[in-house]
Amino acid sequence: MTSAVVMCAATSTEFELDIWSGVRLAQVEQALQQWVTVDAPQGQNHGAPAHLLDAMRYAVLDGGKRLRPLLVLAAHEAVCHGDGVQTLNAAMRAACAVELIHAYSLVHDDMPCMDNDVLRRGKPTVHVQFGEACALLAGDALQALAFELLTPQDGSVPEVTQAHLCALLARAAGSAGMAGGQAIDLASVGLPLTESQLREMHELKTGALLQASVVMGAQCGGPSAQAVAALQTFGAAIGLAFQVVDDILDVTADSSTLGKTAGKDADNNKPTYVALMGLQASQAYAQRLLAQAQCALDGSGLARTQALRALADMVVNRAH
Ligand code: IPE
Ligand code: IPE
Ligand code: MG
Ligand code: MG
Ligand code: MG
Repeated sequence: MTSAVVMCAATSTEFELDIWSGVRLAQVEQALQQWVTVDAPQGQNHGAPAHLLDAMRYAVLDGGKRLRPLLVLAAHEAVCHGDGVQTLNAAMRAACAVELIHAYSLVHDDMPCMDNDVLRRGKPTVHVQFGEACALLAGDALQALAFELLTPQDGSVPEVTQAHLCALLARAAGSAGMAGGQAIDLASVGLPLTESQLREMHELKTGALLQASVVMGAQCGGPSAQAVAALQTFGAAIGLAFQVVDDILDVTADSSTLGKTAGKDADNNKPTYVALMGLQASQAYAQRLLAQAQCALDGSGLARTQALRALADMVVNRAH
């Protein structure tokens, strides 16, 4: 995490992302440790075979920037009027559910039938470590676990909120979201996509889940219609910016900084923003998307947007 200090336009107060995120990252880690385990969320033994569970834990724990959970929590805090403690359980479940979908998408993305990558989060990829069939199943099981987390049977999350969160996450992960974008990505190898085709691919494969993170977090706290509309715009802008920067970093950063194989997009003949418009124009585009995201927050009617602003800044100005 960068040590960003962001001047918030709305309040002109200094906000330290490191301090804000440190506490929340620890909470997310603890929750993931607890939930991706032998015990089901309601405390029943779900009987997962040890090998499969090992692969799931390997994929999720101990790595990653946890950007999506932080966005969930930041959006939740932005819409809450009080301290948000009553809806924090729902927000933490949403934060972890999104991260489980993300982790599953990475496991499958790295498989030989997709990007064929051997390094992820500084470790051998799941299929290298556990075999292809186990990686496939670990991804499947992480996806299912995400929805189990969103549907606790103990009354701690209102059923209407559960249904809303499930619908948002399913939409973002499925054929009109991440999986659809990944299908376009694979079908586009070696093809000269137009700017609008490339944008659609990036919006789906990466943007949808980042946008859902923001909207799901807000949903937990009971947002106004104005706030939802603004956060949708904010989430779309940073979601697209995130993949533009991912394309840039594939060219400009090294594998040890990224924790994944650098230079892979050109090797795999993938359509990227760098290939389409060059490095400088891609960097300028990411900055324009950041400005759009901050502008959306200006019109949100929300006072506590500092964390969202700082995370947006991190998305675009990150080193890995
Ligand atoms: C990488 O996402 C995959 C993309 C969607 C581009 P992240 O860069 O957020 O990966 P982790 O979670 O930090 O490993
Ligand atoms: C993958 O995009 C997006 C996902 C849905 C996982 P990339 O293929 O560019 O992600 P990296 O660069 O391997 O992390
Ligand atoms: Mg890919
Ligand atoms: Mg990849
Ligand atoms: Mg990439």
